[in-house]
Amino acid sequence: MDIFILRGGSRLKGRVDISGSKNAALPIMAASLLADGPCTLKRVPDLADTRLMSDLLGTLGADVARDDDGPVRISVSDDSASHAEYETVRKMRASICVLGPLLAKRGKARVAMPGGCAIGARPIDLHLRGLRALGAEIELDQGDIVAKAKRLHGASIFLGGPFGSTVLGTANVLMAAVLAEGRTVIESAACEPEIVDLADFLSAMGARIEGAGTPRLTVEGVESLRGVEYEVIPDRIEAGTFLMAAAITNGEVTLSHCRLDHMMAVTQKLREVGVIVEPSDGGAAAASARRLEPADVTTQPYPGFPTDLQAQIMALLCLADGNSAVTEKIYPDRFMHVPELLRMGANIRKEGPTSIVTGIRYFTGAPVMASDLRASAALVLAGLVARGETTVRRVYHIDRGYEQIERKLRGLGANIERASE
Ligand code: EPZ
Repeated sequence: MDIFILRGGSRLKGRVDISGSKNAALPIMAASLLADGPCTLKRVPDLADTRLMSDLLGTLGADVARDDDGPVRISVSDDSASHAEYETVRKMRASICVLGPLLAKRGKARVAMPGGCAIGARPIDLHLRGLRALGAEIELDQGDIVAKAKRLHGASIFLGGPFGSTVLGTANVLMAAVLAEGRTVIESAACEPEIVDLADFLSAMGARIEGAGTPRLTVEGVESLRGVEYEVIPDRIEAGTFLMAAAITNGEVTLSHCRLDHMMAVTQKLREVGVIVEPSDGGAAAASARRLEPADVTTQPYPGFPTDLQAQIMALLCLADGNSAVTEKIYPDRFMHVPELLRMGANIRKEGPTSIVTGIRYFTGAPVMASDLRASAALVLAGLVARGETTVRRVYHIDRGYEQIERKLRGLGANIERASE
């Protein structure tokens, strides 16, 4: 397994290109199963997760091709298969979003129940609530969801759960509704930019969707959808991670392919902490040349502060001049990064869904262990500025969601290298 070796002290400077959004690309790749023709997807990031999705679509009768870092071409050649095996689903929860397209297009699906993961239990009850409302018969058989429906019909569905809206649940129900007979209203739909991107992709294919980006989605079902060419949006979580890398090293970094309009809660919080974030020729520039102010952060569904940047901003707040409170409202257990940051000298006290962070003067380099995708990003951020050497193990976690992060960071002057353990 690979490790990262970091030596702190470099102030990051220069320009970095933000890749396409992983969390937009995954449902959009799944939605290609709905098309009667080939789809060409541009700026799909080349990640472990997108490669897993390509493999999964391959087992479902789709030919998936990609030349180097070019577009991904997906065309369905055989629609007889409809079983997403546990072997794949257990590695990537987002596999669940083939359920809606398979049901809508092929009338049946067998998808392994995704298990939990390091950030908490990952239930799918809301997905099933929505699909059942559209007329799907769904049962559980030996850990697999077995679903069938002759023809889905429109319905009015409340899709909110105990933690608010569900991103992939909204994606699944939306992808089923576009080919259902009649009108579907999804109330308490997720408003994330990745859902808007999926809705834009489906509309380009001929779907009739209104309200994307608002809590109420209205869909008029159509008979069929055509293959299209489409470019996914930039990854706002990668962009936020690099803004925080600039901040934590007191650097000056320009991000290209960055949509600041997708990141208003993040830029507001960074400015509160004392980071200068400005629009810059189609992207953003971040600089922070002084000690940071503490701030309280609470994660919420979009447009609130994203849970996927909670670990990263916690690493930044560890060096702020005072006490900060970080409250996790989406995944209350999403604090696997805390024990590892403590190993680097952080002063954090967890109290239920809130972690109280007391600022320290500096991190001390140490061997640390990545546990999930965004926790590992937080450890890299700390290692960029820690005194001495930090080794981060199990970086396969970070390879799931960041395209060649060590190359991008080295391009900004960071002292980071990948080695095999
Ligand atoms: C998406 O996961 C993202 N993944 C996650 O990013 C992100 O953390 C999450 O949304 C929240 O923003 C992808 O888009 C591939 P949810 P998703 O359904 O859709 C509860 C990353 O790091 N819930 O919005 O699976 C759930 O337990 C990943 O890139 C139910 O109760 O998340 C959670 O508390 C990690 N029942 C909350 O809702 C359900 O049926 C939000 O989950 C579904 C969800």
